[in-house]
Parts: sequence; C-alpha cells; structure tokens
Amino acid sequence: MSGQASLEKGGTRLIIIQADDYQDMSQRAFQFIKNKIEKTPVLKLGFATGGTPQKTYELLIEDFQKNGTSYKSIISFNLDEYIGLSKEHPNSYHQYMEQKLFQYIDIEKENIHLPNGVTTDITKECLNYENLIEEKGGIDLQILGIGENGHIGFNEPGTSFDTLTHVVKLAQSTREANARYFSNIADVPTHAITMGIQTILKSKEILLLVSGENKAFAIKRLLTEDLSIDFPASALKKHPRVTIIADKLALSSVTGLVESR
Ligand code: GLP
Repeated sequence: MSGQASLEKGGTRLIIIQADDYQDMSQRAFQFIKNKIEKTPVLKLGFATGGTPQKTYELLIEDFQKNGTSYKSIISFNLDEYIGLSKEHPNSYHQYMEQKLFQYIDIEKENIHLPNGVTTDITKECLNYENLIEEKGGIDLQILGIGENGHIGFNEPGTSFDTLTHVVKLAQSTREANARYFSNIADVPTHAITMGIQTILKSKEILLLVSGENKAFAIKRLLTEDLSIDFPASALKKHPRVTIIADKLALSSVTGLVESR
C-alpha cells in the first residue's frame, strides 16, 4: 500500500509520496520525469548519481527504446563531479551518466553538462558551470538523492545555504559510503565540485528520491528538524516545489507522517 502526504510547517511544503519499495519508487520517479519531458518543450533536467536513481534511469531507457520518448531537446546538468577523475575514468560521474543513461538515449552530446573534475582552474570551472546553468535559463527539474548525513549533491554538513557551484572536501563518511564503487577507499577522491545549495534551490522544481533503511534517519531529520546547515537537505524546506518519493524502509522512522490512502 502506498500513500501521499504533504508536510506543511513554518511556511514550508514538501510533498511526500510513499512507495512500497525501491522498484515502486523508481517506477513513480520514472513516471514523474516522463511527464515533465512530455510537457516541457526544452526541459533543463538536473541529474543525480549514486545508487538511488539507477533503476529510474533504466526505466527511462526502457521507455525510450519501447516508446521513443525523445531527449533531443533536453539540456542536462549534473550535480557534481569528483576532482581528479577524468571524463574517461570508470568512477567519474561523467562515466556513470554515460554508462547508466546517456549512451542509450538520444540526448545530444552538446546538451550534456557536468563539472570538469580535471581542469587546471577549478575556481573558473565553478563560475563557468554556474553561469552556464543561468544562460540556459535555469534548471526546470532537479533530481536529487540524499546522503546518510543529509548531504545533497556533495554539499556536506556545515555548507552555507548561499553556496553556488564550489569545491568541497568530502566528509570521511561520504568517502566510506562511496568506497563501494572503488577498489579501495584510498582511491576515493578527497574533493569534488558540486552545485551549491543555492544552485539547487534555484531549480524550479526538485524531485528527491530516497530508498532503504540506511536513509531512514536522514528522512526523519528532514521531516522533523528545523532548517540547519548541519543538515544540508533541510534547505529543501525553503523551496516551494519539492516532491519526495521515498520507499517504506526510508520512511520507517516517520510512520504516521505519511498515511496510506
Ligand atoms: C553521493 C552523490 C549524491 C547522492 C548521494 C547518495 O555521494 N554525490 O548526489 O545523492 O551520495 O547516494 P546513493 O544514492 O548511492 O545512496
């Protein structure tokens, strides 16, 4: 049984959709994104990496192959990239997007944007990335995941809500969580370029995907605590159009907030 609720507290409004499980969360996320693609002529779509959106991307590919939903007019921006990993590096987010989605759909190469993690001028890269998003008219829909410590993109606890695209030192817990994709933790980069919290909040709409028991505490904090830079995802409460699709395990610590109906 799934349900929907909205959390309205102190001027914030989050729509929360409860999915049965990871498969159901992915199916709902896919449908949400497909609706936007169909309704918006030139959709500026913000992509996230990580384990959470992988199935959603598979469903987008399947839909492209079966129904021909076109990405030709889509302009994409990714949240972040590791510093020091080239576009070709198997663990770079450039490769993640290529392997998990882009190579299978008809998105135009020149419409794909991720920060460059191997530039010689990182400050300039951050500024250019931020400006590029502005020049293209801003992001219409930003897909987000959440870290166990509440990070969004790579904005770790302590990040000001005013930040634009910037360089971050990754929290040790984030490096440990992401070590599963690398042969050992020493290979996980120590720094990344990420859209800032302000960059994310400038998106017209946000879709946050959450799955699994390891995210239950983060979701509980998001739904019950006040805004705090110690918990970056709390900034989402400043945004007027956020939809959270979370599965039952992720919502297991907040039963009662999301009623089945
Ligand atoms: C990573 C990414 C985030 C992602 C988060 C959760 O470090 N930079 O964009 O949302 O951590 O990842 P996962 O979906 O694998 O739990």
